[in-house]
Formats: sequence, structure tokens, C-alpha cells
Amino acid sequence: MDKNNKIILVTGSNRGIGYGIIEGLLEKKHNFSYILTSRSEEQANNSKNKLLSKFPNANIFTHQLDLSDEKSIDNLVKYVQSTFNKIDILINNAGSNYNKSNAYENYTKIFAVNVFGTVNITEKFIEKDLIKNKGKIIILSSQMGYSSQISNETLRNKVLNVKSKDEILKFAEQFGNSIKNKTNEGWGNGIYGISKLLIKMYAKVVSEYDVINKNEIGVYSVHPGWVKTDMGGSGAPLSIKEGASREIMLVELPEGIDKKYQGKYFQDFKVANY
Ligand SMILES: NC(=O)c1ccc[n+]([C@@H]2O[C@H](COP(=O)([O-])OP(=O)(O)OC[C@H]3O[C@@H](n4cnc5c(N)ncnc54)[C@H](OP(=O)(O)O)[C@@H]3O)[C@@H](O)[C@H]2O)c1
Repeated sequence: MDKNNKIILVTGSNRGIGYGIIEGLLEKKHNFSYILTSRSEEQANNSKNKLLSKFPNANIFTHQLDLSDEKSIDNLVKYVQSTFNKIDILINNAGSNYNKSNAYENYTKIFAVNVFGTVNITEKFIEKDLIKNKGKIIILSSQMGYSSQISNETLRNKVLNVKSKDEILKFAEQFGNSIKNKTNEGWGNGIYGISKLLIKMYAKVVSEYDVINKNEIGVYSVHPGWVKTDMGGSGAPLSIKEGASREIMLVELPEGIDKKYQGKYFQDFKVANY
């Protein structure tokens, strides 16, 4: 590996937008080393080989990652530490959506990845100092994570003014309990949407950590647009390339902290309301 290469890790990059981000960066001739992760090692290798057939000189590493499995996150953290020491950019792309009849089961599956897993991996990368100075953390949120879906105004304001990771996790638990116990607390009924709202607010919280400011790490959340992937469906208006270009814009932002952008949520290449 060329030691001068920047290193970028994209979670859930065996397919969909995650794969598109790596492919798009390679198309733009970015000289990164890429860490492609997948729940299945076999799929990670297949996706790596697919990229190599198009970009034979690409520097691609693969690693297994299941965000709902703490051990899998720890293994990835150890791998990154021992192989690279630090990375430049962490893109939290992996996400899930379920819509089966049992709402609580949907909550458990969606939140395990979109909220608990994403918070867990990000916290570990920060605690272990795995992100270089002037690096970046990019979190895939969604337009579905709009705050006005919370009909209870007091609750909505509390969520919008959240100050810590622990508060985010408490809101996630409180929302889960409201589904389990079928209590109407005014959350609205979008499990996926609330997961994406909480993770957007988490990006804001992380952007205010002392260590993030000290190390000048840029932190952003982003809506990729409605994209033709397994999750977005065939009726979505945007191609994977177009969806990935939203995240690539953030990768290409100047290094360091710009107050205009730090902790902000991006939609259609611009800062948007939470
Ligand atoms: N597509 C859209 O229109 C749209 C709109 C707004 C936001 N987003 C967000 O964009 C991101 C990418 O979405 P996409 O459309 O590319 O979805 P996708 O095609 O369904 O791909 C999802 C990726 O996440 C991975 N993943 C799922 N569960 C995981 C877990 N437990 N641990 C680790 N990885 C896991 C999948 O791996 P496997 O192959 O192993 O399942 C896959 O690589 C998600 O965060 C999504 O919420 C998408």
C-alpha cells in the first residue's frame, strides 16, 4: 500500500449506495485505499473483484462487518488499528429497513443497524482514535428522517435539542418502548424515519465532541436522494451514481472544520434543516 494514500472505510459497501460511493470515487480517480465491508466475506470479495475488473489498480481491502453484532464491530476495529493504524474517512452507509407485520420486530431490526450499530461503530472509532486529524465522519441519514414527523411538539423540541449520545440512545429506547407497549407518545409511526432522524441528530452531537474539534474532524449527515437500490426500489428517480455523488461531495469538501457545514445535514448537495 502506498503510505501516502488516504484511507476510506465505507460500511455496507458490497452493494447499493455504499458500493456506488467507492465506484464513483474510483471513477473520479481518487487515490484512496478503500476498505469495503459487508456482512458476508464472500460478498465483500465478489464486490471487490467486480471493482477490480473495472479499476485494476485500485487499492481495495475487505472486511466483514455486521453492525448488529458487537464482536463483528470489535473485529473490524482491531483490523483497522493493526493494519492501518488510522483511517481518513469513515462513511456510515450501512442501513436497513423492514416492513413486516410485527412493528416491534421491525423496530428491533432497523434500530440495531441504523441507530445502535451506527452509534457503536462511530463511538469506537472515536474512542480508539482511529480517525486521522482533519479526517471525516459521514453518516447516511434520509429525507424520511424529517423532524416534523414527531407530532408531539415538546418531544420534537427535545429531540432537536439533544446534547449527548446517551440522550440519543435513551430516545431510541423510549421510542422502542412506545412501539412495544403501543403507547401513543406522538412519535409518529415511521420506524425507519425516526431511526434516520436520531442518527442525523447523532451526527450533530458528535460534531460537538471536544476531541472532534481538537482533531478538526468534519462530521456530516446526508440524504443520498431516493435511489434505485434494493432499499430504494426500482421506481426511485436517482441512479446509484447520482445517489453516491451526494456523499462524494462531502468526501471532497476541504479538510478541517468549516462552521457552515460542521454537524449539518445535507440534502441535494446543500445544508438542509434537521
Ligand atoms: N436507497 C434510497 O433511496 C435511500 C434513501 C435515503 C437513505 N438511504 C440510506 O442510504 C444507505 C444505503 O442504502 P441503499 O439504498 O444502498 O441500501 P441497500 O441497497 O439495501 O444496501 C444496504 C447495505 O447495508 C448493508 N447492511 C444491512 N444490514 C447490515 C448490518 N446489520 N450490518 C452491516 N451492514 C448491513 C447491506 O449489506 P447486505 O448486502 O449484507 O444486506 C448493504 O450493503 C442506508 O443507510 C439507507 O438508509 C437510502
